[in-house]
Amino acid sequence: MTNQGGPRQVDISAREGEVLAALGEHLTNAEIGARLFISIRTVESHVSSLLRKLQADDRRALAAMAATLPSDPAGASAAAIAVAPTLPSPLTPFVGRLAERAALSAALSEHRLVTAVGPGGVGKTRLALSVAADLSDRFADGVWYVDLVPVTDALMIAPAIADALGLGERQSSSAVDNVVSWLAERETLLVLDNCEHLLDGVVVLLERLLAGSPRSAVLATSRARLLVPFERVFSVPGLSVQADDGGPGDAVELFLKRAAAGESPVSSDDTERIAAVCTALDGMALAIELAAA
Ligand SMILES: Nc1ncnc2c1ncn2[C@@H]1O[C@H](COP(=O)(O)OP(=O)(O)O)[C@@H](O)[C@H]1O
Ligand SMILES: [Mg+2]
Repeated sequence: MTNQGGPRQVDISAREGEVLAALGEHLTNAEIGARLFISIRTVESHVSSLLRKLQADDRRALAAMAATLPSDPAGASAAAIAVAPTLPSPLTPFVGRLAERAALSAALSEHRLVTAVGPGGVGKTRLALSVAADLSDRFADGVWYVDLVPVTDALMIAPAIADALGLGERQSSSAVDNVVSWLAERETLLVLDNCEHLLDGVVVLLERLLAGSPRSAVLATSRARLLVPFERVFSVPGLSVQADDGGPGDAVELFLKRAAAGESPVSSDDTERIAAVCTALDGMALAIELAAA
């Protein structure tokens, strides 16, 4: 589940553009410093910021990217390098949720802000990620994922989004302005995961982002809804214990999958007992995983 949607642009400063061009010529830091009349230390700091902004593994990767730039340094500085957006890749396979995926996708074609609401562990994050992957073709400028768990201050929401979008800091403008202007002409789906502890800050920011970017949409996840009139709330139910055709539902399938990975695999003859356990757990995905482990 990587490379969703189209490429995005990363802003690099004029100086970083010059350093990048020099890396393309395979110069050492000392040679770059001598050429640009800056200290080796300064070169090092430009290289590390290029590595971060361009999400490159090492300077060889940067040198390869430099090959795609125009040859004059001014052009290089203005050049924005395309990096594909990525969604995090969960470590376990996704199970079911066909009806919920369809409903959320449909909601996102009619509403610009959809909040997937439900208790911790019900499966909001996994559902949002799978819907985001399903929709990657619908948003020309890609689907972007921002986890707000590490953000403890409302003022840091915009910087977290800017970071996820790969927008470097610009001294002359705020992170909010950077994100607003980046999104303005683009068509993106922004997944804001775990909004519950920042409801007011998210609302204030989303009013600006959505107003400024008419073709973008936001899929938020939260334990509580954002409580704004332009929000469409989707209550994430527990995993179904029984399928519509009467067969085993998603909850039972998740239990069987996780149990099969553990030390005491259960046979699928046990589905009645497993269904009873899943019902007792209200189809909560996390609880089912723990019970099956
Ligand atoms: N549809 C699913 N298929 C497979 N695993 C799931 C599914 N839904 C949830 N899980 C697993 O259950 C746990 C809780 O899900 P998560 O999406 O993190 O819940 P929430 O975001 O509501 O707290 C995670 O370990 C997740 O991988
Ligand atoms: Mg979550």
